[in-house]
Amino acid sequence: MKFEENLSAILKDNILHAKWLNTLSFMENAGAKKISASEDKEKVSLIILKHAAEEHRHAYYLKKQIAKIGEGLCENYEDQYLIAPKASKYYLNNLDVKVCKYLKKSLGLEGNDLKFAAYLLVTYAIELRADELYPVYQDALSAMDSKVTVKSIILEEEGHLEEMIHQLKAFSPDWEKHATIAVDLEKNLYEHWMIGMEEELAELA
Ligand SMILES: [Fe+2]
Ligand SMILES: [Fe+2]
Repeated sequence: MKFEENLSAILKDNILHAKWLNTLSFMENAGAKKISASEDKEKVSLIILKHAAEEHRHAYYLKKQIAKIGEGLCENYEDQYLIAPKASKYYLNNLDVKVCKYLKKSLGLEGNDLKFAAYLLVTYAIELRADELYPVYQDALSAMDSKVTVKSIILEEEGHLEEMIHQLKAFSPDWEKHATIAVDLEKNLYEHWMIGMEEELAELA
């Protein structure tokens, strides 16, 4: 099932919509933590600091949006407050594991070099996904005159993609080859996430 179909089922129900926002918040927070964890002890650029700060802000901002739907919904990231919790948690972790495996095998990277290269490729793939997903969500929100909005996130995610490309170009002249592999890995995990979502929605229906 396509994302648009899952989304329209979610937006019809306030509790599900709150869980969707909470799930996005969880994923943004997981992404932010991954960026911080991949930082070198000393060589941390302005771009990386900005990126980590903005992903943390996205997690906070999405969480705040939940209050526009109702009071006391989704107080934390426990499974009962997320949509497709298993697949949602699996997505980012496994993308990281798979990209690290690829980088070790193809470039022989380890230690901090591996962490940094994985940050570049994982984040690039996720930014592409974010640039596709958030505008579809915003269109659906606008169509139903929802008070919830993700416009400020869309603006920042567009900046992130450009910043990742800039950093990837500095990382390797073959960056596009590596990026294509990361994007393929992400696509599989994204599909797994969509199936998880579809199964949960089918159970509820
Ligand atoms: Fe984000
Ligand atoms: Fe981002």
